[in-house]
Amino acid sequence: MPRPARPARPPAARSGADRPHGTGRKASRPKVDHRTRQKAHEYELDALSGLERVAETELAAVPLARDIRGPRFWYPGDPERLTRMKSVVAVYRIQTWDVPRPRGLLGNQQLGELTEYLRSVVEVGGHTSFRLGAAGKESSVMQRLAEELQQGLNLPHDPETGELLIRLRPELDGPGWDVLARITPKPLSARPWRVCNLHGGLNATIAYAVHKLAGQRDVDRIFNPMSGSGTLLIERALMGPSDAMVGVDASQAAVDCARANIHAAKKDIEVACLDALHTGLPARSFDLVVADLPWGDAVGSHVDNEVLYPAFLTEMHRLTSKQGRLAVITHEIRMFERVLQDQQKWHAQELLQVASGGHHPKVYLLHRR
Ligand SMILES: C[S@@+](CC[C@H](N)C(=O)[O-])C[C@H]1O[C@@H](n2cnc3c(N)ncnc32)[C@H](O)[C@@H]1O
Repeated sequence: MPRPARPARPPAARSGADRPHGTGRKASRPKVDHRTRQKAHEYELDALSGLERVAETELAAVPLARDIRGPRFWYPGDPERLTRMKSVVAVYRIQTWDVPRPRGLLGNQQLGELTEYLRSVVEVGGHTSFRLGAAGKESSVMQRLAEELQQGLNLPHDPETGELLIRLRPELDGPGWDVLARITPKPLSARPWRVCNLHGGLNATIAYAVHKLAGQRDVDRIFNPMSGSGTLLIERALMGPSDAMVGVDASQAAVDCARANIHAAKKDIEVACLDALHTGLPARSFDLVVADLPWGDAVGSHVDNEVLYPAFLTEMHRLTSKQGRLAVITHEIRMFERVLQDQQKWHAQELLQVASGGHHPKVYLLHRR
């Protein structure tokens, strides 16, 4: 059924600062931010499900970000600042067109606006190819759109690995279509320091969130048992100073991998090949222990974990200071919660559950009783 026309809105794109999206304060919005004299653009954060609040908190600290509505916001500053966000998988520019379906974007005026909009994203991001991300991206309309954009942007269309990811979706609270363009050629979760990948490596945005929620203190002596490729160590080192930081892993391959990543991050963190349960370290050596325990699928087994988890809680209790805290990430949720119930040494609080790579691990923060 055709949708009735909405006389209040022109048929063309609601562009940039002129027509910000659905806030009821459109008329009064200035075209430029008086502090920067730059035109504001609308953006949207893409965070892993479960990390939205961490992302919103991080966004709140970005100077000039305003009119924040969940993941969407207006921002007149240098987009480079947004590419430094640590809790999000990606940041997108977003613009909405008053077209009832994607075919409408092929109209002369809309295509011109769309190309100009995407070109401005490429100018900043330096993307060298593009791809479309939309339901029905194999359709003839999407293929035509890809051909037109290939010409207009003078960029190759690479449907699998194109750097400029252009997502099309129906407008959330209106009849038009949103076009989102990822501002960076790679996702922000693909950290430049990651030169070595391990099966079971933690998504770096989760590592950032865990440290933020566990508390970031310069005086902390931090221990990361089962450090794998070093994600938790490196993300913490990049966040700011700490009194000490040590990682151990029972696998030499993992230790070598972590060292390669630490070197690429230009950080100096000690990582040793040791059993985390038998390090020989003195009691109360650490103020914060952060651990991404074996989940029993990609790494370790459920049977081994039945023994490992209780022993781990006991040994970490020995290694932490009186006010010490222990952050645990695991997908062995039922088993870990049973182990928690059966012990008296730690008081546990669930911090979050996050969707990552087909898993839904939980993050807990434990304090010594
Ligand atoms: C889930 S992975 C950690 C992944 C890591 N967070 C990363 O981003 O790469 C668990 C790690 O625990 C290590 N591990 C398992 N049992 C251990 C033990 N008793 N002592 C030390 N490391 C152990 C494994 O070798 C594996 O590297």
